[in-house]
Amino acid sequence: MTDLASAHVLVLGATGGLGAPIARRLVAAGARVSLSARDGSKLAALADELGDSVVTTVAVDLTLPPGPGQAVETAHGAAPLTGVVNAAGVVAFGPAAELDDDTLDELLLLDLVAPVRLVRAAAAVLPEGGFIAQVSAVVAEKAMPGMAAYSAAKAGLTAFDAAAATELRRRKVRVLDVRPPHTETGLATRPVAGEAPRLPRGLAPDAVAARIVAAIADDERDLPAEAFSDRPEGS
Ligand SMILES: NC(=O)c1ccc[n+]([C@@H]2O[C@H](COP(=O)([O-])OP(=O)(O)OC[C@H]3O[C@@H](n4cnc5c(N)ncnc54)[C@H](OP(=O)(O)O)[C@@H]3O)[C@@H](O)[C@H]2O)c1
Repeated sequence: MTDLASAHVLVLGATGGLGAPIARRLVAAGARVSLSARDGSKLAALADELGDSVVTTVAVDLTLPPGPGQAVETAHGAAPLTGVVNAAGVVAFGPAAELDDDTLDELLLLDLVAPVRLVRAAAAVLPEGGFIAQVSAVVAEKAMPGMAAYSAAKAGLTAFDAAAATELRRRKVRVLDVRPPHTETGLATRPVAGEAPRLPRGLAPDAVAARIVAAIADDERDLPAEAFSDRPEGS
């Protein structure tokens, strides 16, 4: 078991539809948290809500090369870190043959390159018993037409996590790859390009967050899509 009551966890994408309930669930389990995203005012509002459980906030753009390292260094400098949860990400829709360069760059930088840099930065500071939970997606297991680049970025992340998990196991640092199905966070309504297809009702964000935090606490090593309840929000 990972004792969350004595943990300090950095949450990236903390103001997002998944990041915020993950941060709330971690705090409910007794953890202290540091919160990161780009928008400082949203970070301040969440920090106000979570009160004394917040160690620090870090406004960084994770697509920039120093971003992941800055988030880790600032949080770890404020109090030694036990773990990191990466719930920052973007999606894009549209035919693969029409993908433009800016969209491709943003998707790959945030959804694949930043998590790789994050593992590098976190591995340098996490203690034995520490953890890195990365939110990949169900499309890493089953690529979706109309989401080719997003599927590729997430499949790449999941592959990276599998290899890094084996390497870091020797140092007793756990890498947990998390692949949720579609979840009602509103992500699909703010793509960096294209328009979402008609999607079935997704999972409830708080239920997905609860499952992720339970997996962290229970020392689970992989969280595939099938590990999430298939009960849509509101049913
Ligand atoms: N929702 C789903 O159906 C679903 C399903 C499976 C997996 N996922 C994955 O779960 C993760 C979270 O998704 P979500 O639904 O919670 O999305 P969301 O509500 O849009 O939240 C995204 C978070 O990432 C931050 N962010 C965006 N661009 C950033 C950047 N360049 N640098 C730093 N932070 C950045 C956002 O804050 P700022 O804009 O202020 O930076 C926000 O906190 C993503 O990786 C997504 O692929 C989502």
